[in-house]
Amino acid sequence: MTTSQQKVRVWIAASADGYIATSDGDIAWLDAFNARDPAGLQAAFDGFIADVGAIVMGRSSFEKVLTFGAWPYGNRPAFIVTSRPISADAPFVRGTGSDMPEIIARAKQACSGQGPGHVWVDGGGITISGLIDAGLIDELDVLCLPVLLGNGIPLFPPSGRAPVMFTSIESRPGLLGGTWLRLNFKT
Ligand SMILES: NC(=O)c1ccc[n+]([C@@H]2O[C@H](COP(=O)([O-])OP(=O)(O)OC[C@H]3O[C@@H](n4cnc5c(N)ncnc54)[C@H](OP(=O)(O)O)[C@@H]3O)[C@@H](O)[C@H]2O)c1
Repeated sequence: MTTSQQKVRVWIAASADGYIATSDGDIAWLDAFNARDPAGLQAAFDGFIADVGAIVMGRSSFEKVLTFGAWPYGNRPAFIVTSRPISADAPFVRGTGSDMPEIIARAKQACSGQGPGHVWVDGGGITISGLIDAGLIDELDVLCLPVLLGNGIPLFPPSGRAPVMFTSIESRPGLLGGTWLRLNFKT
């Protein structure tokens, strides 16, 4: 199913200095924030994912999620951005590849007929950056949390690209003591 309602959305948490993980790929720094309001976080995630029909993530993020044990995203089809085959036993993975327009088209097509069927780009920064370069992100929500990590894996890796203009930028109070920042890439 591909419809005009479908959006390609990023929904991600980052430190105030723009990191999504520590240098070793660990996201345990998020635990202290999650503990502030686990019910509120769950409610926010449930509200967000209810409109998600398929998930796209980079290989590093995928490998991180596999370490969580049970796959946390139900039976939504997942597409992994990678230049290599994956060996994991992952029945929810419907496709892999490194052609960004093709991956997004396949994810949109794989969405069920329920709800708007947005495509969630789970991360990480390398994948988001590639999708921005390809002009494929509609909106990016980042929950900026009140911590400076100092270094780590950046949400927006350094790039030699020309400046990227958004159509608008919005902020609103966030959960866990943070602030939501929304970058709208398309009207
Ligand atoms: N804070 C949060 O909410 C949050 C959310 C998601 C992820 N994370 C964290 O983010 C970290 C991973 O982020 P990351 O930026 O390092 O990596 P990533 O985007 O998850 O994955 C990068 C990998 O994806 C593949 N890839 C990406 N773009 C590609 C392209 N255009 N062509 C070919 N392959 C491409 C490459 O894998 P191949 O080498 O296989 O080609 C590349 O090494 C993890 O530690 C994860 O835990 C945090």
